[in-house]
Amino acid sequence: MKRAVYPGSFDPVTLGHLDVIKRSAKLVDELIVAVLQNNKKNPLFSVEERVKILKEVTKDISNIRIESFSGLSIDFAQRCEAGFLVRGLRAITDFDYELQMAQTNRIMAPEVDTVFLTTSLEYAYLSSSTVKEVAFYGGDISKFVPEPVVRAIESKLAERQPMK
Ligand code: PNS
Repeated sequence: MKRAVYPGSFDPVTLGHLDVIKRSAKLVDELIVAVLQNNKKNPLFSVEERVKILKEVTKDISNIRIESFSGLSIDFAQRCEAGFLVRGLRAITDFDYELQMAQTNRIMAPEVDTVFLTTSLEYAYLSSSTVKEVAFYGGDISKFVPEPVVRAIESKLAERQPMK
């Protein structure tokens, strides 16, 4: 059984993430998308909300599980008995951090290999933080995120900025 874990913050999931999810799900028997419970980053969405959104946007993929985790990605991958960690690479700016993380993880758990998928060109510029900034200033994010995320961000921002 080939199992991979794709860890990330997914705050929120973008079309770039979804592209990596769909492509990596085709490479393995089971893909676990693992949402980091990261209180340090002051996320827009709670981990439960991020998991719920991910479940909705991946409902057509049969070999996928959406989980949350805290602690190290590599420990989570080992607990899941996964052979691979998946990460997306958008540009050279991602490379330093990703290489460092992959090599550190490899020392800690040589049996888990990190597999990098290059993000499709049309999403190479995309990040969750850009999406949040555009949305915060009232811009149209429908080209960057799946439809359920557009709605979720709209209601989240409405909660945060109640009408006067
Ligand atoms: O979506 P992101 O924010 O780029 O994902 C980063 C993530 C969650 C994969 C990374 O920060 C992570 O794995 N955090 C958990 C702690 C950990 O394992 N750190 C790496 C040590 S080598």
